[in-house]
Amino acid sequence: MKKVLITGITGQDGSYLADFMLEKGYEVHGMVRRASTENDERIEHLKGKIHIHQGDLLDFMSLVELVDTVRPVEIYNLAAQSFVPTSWNQPVLTGEFTALGVTRILEAIKLIDKKIKFYQASSSEMFGKVQEIPQKETTIFYPRSPYGVAKVYGHWITINYRESYDIFACSGILFNHESPRRGREFVTRKITDTVSRIKLGLDDKLYLGNMDAKRDWGFAGDYVRAMWAMLQQDEPDDFVIATGETHSVKEFVELSFDRVDLDWKKYVEVDKSLFRPAEVHQLIGDASKAKRILKWEPTISFKELINMMIDSDMEYYKKKIG
Ligand code: NAP
Ligand code: GDD
Repeated sequence: MKKVLITGITGQDGSYLADFMLEKGYEVHGMVRRASTENDERIEHLKGKIHIHQGDLLDFMSLVELVDTVRPVEIYNLAAQSFVPTSWNQPVLTGEFTALGVTRILEAIKLIDKKIKFYQASSSEMFGKVQEIPQKETTIFYPRSPYGVAKVYGHWITINYRESYDIFACSGILFNHESPRRGREFVTRKITDTVSRIKLGLDDKLYLGNMDAKRDWGFAGDYVRAMWAMLQQDEPDDFVIATGETHSVKEFVELSFDRVDLDWKKYVEVDKSLFRPAEVHQLIGDASKAKRILKWEPTISFKELINMMIDSDMEYYKKKIG
């Protein structure tokens, strides 16, 4: 049985990728960092089906030992400090996790077995102040946050190890992708979570920052298929994964309140403290290379994604209040 190692398995993408890899017949191993409380909400349904190991992107020897113990055929590096606002408060730590963490894993691969295939979770945040519309693999990067800068490092070190050591290393430049498992601090889940609470009388206001920001939002379940497809090609390469549509935060808000038959204008307030020191105003990706080579297509529309997230949050709070 082929073994896969996923870092960041407790995160949104890690949990969807674990589901997908099990369906594909892999033996799934996940790395988790030690915490004083359990943090396995997203992989609870996989208990007994996957193998969990402790390790940390900050600790090189933990990565070496883990790769040596598991001996996977593929490693997906999804672990990172992934929340953009936190990267201004903790820029050095973000660099340690999100940038240097990538080198540590690549070094572990180099040391133990250069035949292990590697996937790096790169990000559309690298395009930042966009230099071209839509953004594709050849678009010049202009990151606008310490997180974006760290991801540019992770992207290039992946390419560098591919070119220097002949490691099968791919970088997926994924545009924003969401789901009912999205962290509640990200804007989409913050909206669907709060709208559900408002509908059920558990909250009365939704405070947001820049509602004019636009993103190319897809469904996380679709995007993990692309990660796997990249590692199944004959040659390693980098791919943009996106829907090719862009929508504003305001549109996301309107459709979310529509789903529960409420008028958003009565509940939404702008909180200037939520604006960022430097904003990424608009992202829209061109995934034609992935469509052509990986035969990848998104299956969930913007509206379907919002409905899925609202319905899931409504169900969660209805159960909670009984
Ligand atoms: P997420 O939900 O925030 O998950 C991040 C994961 O990284 C969690 O499992 C977290 O563990 C783990 N982690 C953080 N620091 C670590 C460390 N020092 N050592 C070991 N594990 C650590 O992120 P996501 O949305 O699934 O995204 C997955 C990856 O794709 C990230 O690298 C993100 O930057 C990138 N990305 C995401 C998107 C998107 O729209 N979702 C788009 C482009 C790229 P804990 O549970 O212990 O916190
Ligand atoms: N989080 C948040 N909270 N964002 C808000 C809010 C709010 O209250 N109000 C407006 N926004 C705007 C932000 O200013 C930003 O322009 C947009 O909503 C999206 O913010 P996030 O959902 O936090 O995501 P992100 O685009 O900054 O980063 C996500 O996508 C990247 C890919 O482009 C993360 O998943 C990153 O890890 C990922 O790399």
